[in-house]
Parts: sequence; structure tokens; C-alpha cells
Amino acid sequence: MKVFILLLLIIFIGLFSCQQSTQNQIDNLKQALANSYKPGLGEFMSGIQVHHAKLWFAGQAQNWKLADFEINEIKESLSGIEKYCSDRPEIKKLSMIIEPINNLSRAVISKNISQFKSSYAILTSTCNSCHQATNHDYNIIIQPVTPPYSNQDFKPTN
Ligand code: HEC
Repeated sequence: MKVFILLLLIIFIGLFSCQQSTQNQIDNLKQALANSYKPGLGEFMSGIQVHHAKLWFAGQAQNWKLADFEINEIKESLSGIEKYCSDRPEIKKLSMIIEPINNLSRAVISKNISQFKSSYAILTSTCNSCHQATNHDYNIIIQPVTPPYSNQDFKPTN
């Protein structure tokens, strides 16, 4: 009988400590997740700003492959915003940019420079519409005047 009780006790302690260590692991993981780096909305926007500028010069040079690439980079940043910035109430307005981007994409696919220019103007004004709608009206986006970097050639390769 004594042996039986001792055995039960050992099993019980074993189970308890096992549960404790699982709980510790969960707590450690939770803490690691909470401390892990998440890019902020402003960082995504700064990325979008660069691709928005490059997109203009790619379109002007009729480098449609690069223009298409830049559009996809903007789309990736938008997905990143939805994934990592869901705590920001402003992102409810994000969907307003989808249609202007899709229209611009169509202009790029059909290699239509005049449609590109007009769609680009609409995209840029939509950036500003959202900034106004989210109390960032002081943050004004324009069609770029000079390329953001001097070490990139926008001419098409063929
Ligand atoms: C949700 C609507 C929304 C749309 C659409 C939007 N923005 Fe923003 N943007 C914001 C908000 C909100 C901020 C402020 C972010 C912060 O608090 O850091 C911001 C900030 C910025 C900044 C400031 C970053 C800095 O440090 O100067 C730039 C640049 C920017 N946006 C560019 C753009 C461009 C370019 C587009 C269009 C291609 C665009 N945004 C579309 C909401 C939007």
C-alpha cells in the first residue's frame, strides 16, 4: 500500500512539473512574441513612397517590367500593413487605394503611357485623400521631380 501511494505521488509530481514547464515555455514564447519587431505603419509608408517615386520614372521611361515590379512592391507593402498594423484604426481607409492601383496596373499591362500618366495622377491624389481622411493632411504626396536614387537606370533593357 505504501509503495502504491509513493508511486502515485511520483506520478503526480511528475505530471505537475511537466505541466509547469509547458506553461513556462508558453509564457516565454508569449513574451518573445510580444517583444518581436513589427514594422510600423510609417515604415511601410516610407517604403511605399520610394516605390511610388520609382514607379513614375519607370513609367516615363516606358520600362513596363520595372513599372509592374514597383506596383507589386506597393501591393506587398499594403498586405504588410493589413497583417502587421491591424491595431491602427486608419487602415480601415486603406481599401480606397485598391482601384487606383488596379487601374494603373492595367495601363502598365497595356503599355499605354497616357493612361499611365492619368492613372498615376489619380493614385497620387488617393494617397492624399487617405492622408486627409486620417488626419495626416500635412503629409502631401506629389508626382516626383527627380528619381529617389542616382544609382538606378530606369531605361528598359529591350
Ligand atoms: C490608410 C490610408 C492611407 C493611404 C491609402 C496612404 N497613406 Fe500614407 N500614411 C497614412 C497614415 C495614417 C500615415 C501616418 C503613419 C504614421 O503614423 O507613422 C501615413 C504616412 C505616410 C508617409 C509619411 C512617412 C514619413 O515619415 O514621412 C508617407 C511618405 C506616405 N504616407 C506616403 C504614401 C503614399 C505615397 C501613398 C500612396 C501610394 C500613401 N501614403 C497612401 C495613411 C495612408
